[in-house]
Amino acid sequence: MKVTFARPGSAAAGALAIGIYSGLELTPSAAQIDRKTRGALSRAVAAGRFRGKIGQVLPVLAPRGVGVRSILVAGLGNAAEFNDLAAERVAGALAAHLLASAETDLAIAIEAPKGATLDPAKLAAHLANAVCLRAYRFDKYRTTEKPDSKPRLARLAVHTADPSAARAAYAPLASITDSVLLARDLISEPGNVIYPASFAAAAKALTSLGLKVEVLGRDKLKKLGLNAMLGVAQGSGHEPQLVALQWNGAGKGGGAPIAFVGKGVTFDTGGISIKPAGGMEEMKYDMSGAAAVYGVMRSLAARKAKVNAVGICAMVENMPGDNAQRPGDVVRTMSGQTIEVIDTDAEGRLVLSDALYFAYSQYKPRAMIDLATLTGSVMVALGVEHGGLFANDDKLADQLLAAGKASGELLWRLPMTEHYDDLIKSDIADWKNDGGRWCDAINGASLLKHFVGNTPWAHLDIAGMAWTKQDRPTVPKGAVGFGIRLLDRVVADCYEGK
Ligand code: BES
Ligand code: MN
Ligand code: ZN
Repeated sequence: MKVTFARPGSAAAGALAIGIYSGLELTPSAAQIDRKTRGALSRAVAAGRFRGKIGQVLPVLAPRGVGVRSILVAGLGNAAEFNDLAAERVAGALAAHLLASAETDLAIAIEAPKGATLDPAKLAAHLANAVCLRAYRFDKYRTTEKPDSKPRLARLAVHTADPSAARAAYAPLASITDSVLLARDLISEPGNVIYPASFAAAAKALTSLGLKVEVLGRDKLKKLGLNAMLGVAQGSGHEPQLVALQWNGAGKGGGAPIAFVGKGVTFDTGGISIKPAGGMEEMKYDMSGAAAVYGVMRSLAARKAKVNAVGICAMVENMPGDNAQRPGDVVRTMSGQTIEVIDTDAEGRLVLSDALYFAYSQYKPRAMIDLATLTGSVMVALGVEHGGLFANDDKLADQLLAAGKASGELLWRLPMTEHYDDLIKSDIADWKNDGGRWCDAINGASLLKHFVGNTPWAHLDIAGMAWTKQDRPTVPKGAVGFGIRLLDRVVADCYEGK
C-alpha cells in the first residue's frame, strides 16, 4: 500500500473518509463535504442509526458534487476523549470497511476536535499507521483468492495541514508497524515452514538493518550447558537455535543493554505429556514471544533508536519421539540449578530458564524483559484483554504498565511473592516445572525468577494476547504481533538516550 500525506482539499477519487463526533458534531471537512453534496451527508446520517460512535462507518455511495466514488462517514466518538489510540480505532474500522468492498483507494480527511492535545501531524500519522496494521493479510498459501479477485487497499492519502510534519511523525511508526507485520508473518507460518533453523534464517536477514545476529546451534548450547533448553528440543528432528540479536544504537558510552528474551517454541505438541488433538494446530503460535523479540529489535534498528539492546530468541520444537525427554527427567540448567520435569508440556519455562540465564550471564543487562506464550492459566485469569505481567522490580513493572496503556497493548500485574516458591520445590531436584492445579501462571513466573540474578526483570505471559480469534480495530483475526509496540514504547519513553 502506498501511503501519502497531502494538504486538505487535495483531489480524491476513490473513497473519501470524513469524521463526525458523537452528538453528531461535524468536523470541518465533514461540514464542507456536506455543503458540496447539498446536504447528502446530513440526510444519510438522519436516515440511519449512525450516531458518531467510535468505530462506526456509514458509507454514502456515488455522491453528487464531490467527484469521489464514495464518502465514508467515520464515527469519532466522544470529542473530549479523542487521542492517538482513538484515531487508530477509527482508521482501523475504515480499513476493515474498505477491505470488504471493491474500493482500493482511500483518502482520509479527519480533524481533531477543537482544543485537542493530539497535534494534527501525529493524528495524520496514527491514522495512516492503523490502516496499515488493519489491512494486513496472510494469504500466500491461497491459490484461488488472488489479489485481483480479492482487492487490497492500494493507495492511502491522509489530508493534513502540514504534510511534511506528518511524514516525519509517520516514519518511526512505520518502522514499528513494518516490524509488527513481519512478526505476524512468522507467527502465521505453519510449523513445517517456521522451525528453529528457518526462524534463525529470517533473523539473520536483519543484518541488513545494522543488527548483529549470532546463532548458536546444539553443539554450542551443549558446551555452554543450556541443558533445560536442549531437553525440550531432544524429541524433535529440528536442531534448537538460540538467536542473539544486538543493536548498539547508543554506542560504547550507552552502557549495559536492555535485554529482551522470547519463548520460541515453533510447535508445541506437549511432548510425551502430549496435548489433546483438538485445537493443537494453534500451537504454531507458541513462538510469538520470540517473534516479538525479533520485531522489537527490528524496529529499534529501523528507526535507529539511541539505545543498546539485545534480543534473545530461544528456538525449539516440542515433540514426542524415541529420544524425547520423559516426565521425571532431571535437567541441569546453565545456571547450575536443577529442574525436575514433571510435565513435558510445561516446556516454555524450561527453555526460558536457560535463555534468561544466558542473557543475564553473557550481557549483564541493565534490565531484562521476557515474553512467552507460557500458560493457559494466564488466560483463565485475564482473558484476552491483558497480558500477565510479573516483575521483581516495581519501577520496571510501572514502566511496562504505562507503556501498555500508551501503546494500547495492555498488561495487568500479578503477584509472585516468595510464598509461591514452595509449590515448585521438587523432592529430587531444586525445582520442578509444574506446581499443581492452581495458579500455574504464577508458578511459571516463580521458576523463571530464579534465573535472572539480581537484574531488574519482568516476565510477560502473552498466551492470551498473541493470537486473536476475532477481528480487532488494528488487528485482523490471527497473529497479533503483541508486544512490539509495547516494548518499542518502553524503550522510547524510559531507556532511549538515558
Ligand atoms: N504453550 C503452552 C501455553 C499456551 C496455552 C499458550 C494456550 C497459548 C495458548 C504451554 O507450553 C503449556 O502447554 N502450558 C501448560 C502448562 C501445564 C502443563 C503446567 C498449560 O498451560 O496447560
Ligand atoms: Mn506446552
Ligand atoms: Zn508451550
